[in-house]
Amino acid sequence: MKYRSHHNGHLSEKDIGAQVQLVGWVQKKRNLGSLVFIDLRDRSGIVQLFFPNPDLAKDIKNEYLIQISGVVRKKDVANKALKTGAVEVEVSTLSTLNSSEVPPLIIDDVTDAGEETRLKYRYLDLRRQPMQDKLIIRSQITQVFHEYFAKYDYVHVETPLLTLSTPGGARDFLVPSRLHPGAFYALPQSPQIYKQLLMIGGMEKYYQIARCFRDEDLRADRQPDFTQIDVEASFLTQDEFLNQMETILAAVFKRVKNIDLTLPFARLSYQDAMEFYGSDKPDLRYEFKLSHPGMLLQNAFKQAGFLSQYLKGIRLPQALTTVTRKVIDEWTVFVKQFGIKGLVVIKNEGGQLVSSFSKYLQPDDYEAVLSQLQLEPNDLYVALTHDDAKTLATALGLLRLKAISLLNISPSNPFALAWVTDFPLFDTNEQGNLVSAHHPFTRPKDEDLAKLTSEPKAVIAQAYDLVINGYEAGGGSMRIYDKDTQRSIFSLLGLSDDEIQTKFGWFIDAFNYGTPPHGGIAFGLDRLTMILSNTDNIKDVIAFPKNLKMMGLLERTPNKVDDAQLNDLSLIIKEHV
Ligand code: AMO
Repeated sequence: MKYRSHHNGHLSEKDIGAQVQLVGWVQKKRNLGSLVFIDLRDRSGIVQLFFPNPDLAKDIKNEYLIQISGVVRKKDVANKALKTGAVEVEVSTLSTLNSSEVPPLIIDDVTDAGEETRLKYRYLDLRRQPMQDKLIIRSQITQVFHEYFAKYDYVHVETPLLTLSTPGGARDFLVPSRLHPGAFYALPQSPQIYKQLLMIGGMEKYYQIARCFRDEDLRADRQPDFTQIDVEASFLTQDEFLNQMETILAAVFKRVKNIDLTLPFARLSYQDAMEFYGSDKPDLRYEFKLSHPGMLLQNAFKQAGFLSQYLKGIRLPQALTTVTRKVIDEWTVFVKQFGIKGLVVIKNEGGQLVSSFSKYLQPDDYEAVLSQLQLEPNDLYVALTHDDAKTLATALGLLRLKAISLLNISPSNPFALAWVTDFPLFDTNEQGNLVSAHHPFTRPKDEDLAKLTSEPKAVIAQAYDLVINGYEAGGGSMRIYDKDTQRSIFSLLGLSDDEIQTKFGWFIDAFNYGTPPHGGIAFGLDRLTMILSNTDNIKDVIAFPKNLKMMGLLERTPNKVDDAQLNDLSLIIKEHV
């Protein structure tokens, strides 16, 4: 005997008159005395049950799991709020498959529960339609990737989770070895080295839905254990590879959102991204760009003794009434965190220039300034100055985002995808040492190889990030495939020959055996799902996430282990001070 004949959310007018058998959880029960109605939920949706015999449902409460049989009837008045609202099921038999306690949260599209309760009772939170929708989107995304990777002849290969510590931006999660007391495995921050070894191993095209682990401060778009769609290919140029990835992403957007993306995606250099948007992951749904306010204002700044080395600003259209004194004060406090003295505001009030800086301008120049800044009546321009170009651009880029949200500007497009390319190969850390901007396996541009030792900071990488709506949704590069360049990168990063040999000798040795030119990328599956399901909280798209303190509130991780386990691992826990 089957559990069910139909899924609740699929019933419609075409089923009127059909005898059906349904299962589901009781979302809501309405007792109108002689009539009882129940909203019955399964993953497909909700259908209304109607009980001509109210006794049948007398013991039934919310979240009871029931099985019913009955006949589909047309409703006199359709319920527009329900997909199945044109029909209801007149119930003739009911059996209770399982009872339920009163749930600690409202299981409906909108819940009353705070995050702690939702995470603690995640299995109940997951019963809510918006949560299920997101996990379904996540699954659709992986399905499209699987399909297209198969089509383009990529091979899915799993790489080890018990591996070794490799350089990355974050701390490793370590796993103590029982058989080798005092030695540890590390959980992979990404399969980077393995996928390169697979290229050396002649696999030519690899992908993996890969779990990655990073012990770093959490944010709204970061989890300590997350998933990458990890890809690597040999014998493809950067353009060939990115074009191929674009067609896959276009298929993802088509399947999940029924949106046709325009190909090829926009490409902009890191330098332009910083120059025009003040971010290496610019939100390109909004047109307006950072600009230089022109020489007249620059001179005014100078006269006022306010000018630092770099000067930059942004025009905020129709912002006069929204950007109040209070907002300017808040923004001033905000930019001060970056060591920026303050902001200068220039307004166009009914065609007239208004600014506390106007005294440093010739009245004859007012019009020229307005036209230079392209300030229409009710527009406003905000300018900042600082001695460090990157800090200035970053602060202004963040102000741009604050202004977009404050002014409630509508995006020109629901999704803006772009490749940011031509990153510098190196950054400098707080101690002034070179660190890899991506990772140490990233190939420099061929024409910059000669600068590696003479001018390393000027070397541009063959690296690219996929940016969607202001999120870094993926990152990758073409890789170094000769051992001399690889060695010189490690040594520029401050590793001695001995360290290179002990840490990476096993990897560099592989370069002795005909390494093919190769490159790849990793997309953040969690972030892609966030973007495609319109949430800004990564926890919403992960079935069992960690909270901001990196704890699993449901299963209560991390947890203490007993002495016997510690003994097995030859570990002693130090008193925590
Ligand atoms: P990268 O470190 O840029 O590159 O990571 C690739 C993508 O993974 C996602 N991501 C994260 N998502 C959620 N939580 C996190 N803590 C987190 N960290 C990263 C982002 C990011 O763009 N091995 C290289 C890829 C390569 O070069 O092929 C790598 O891991 O969306």
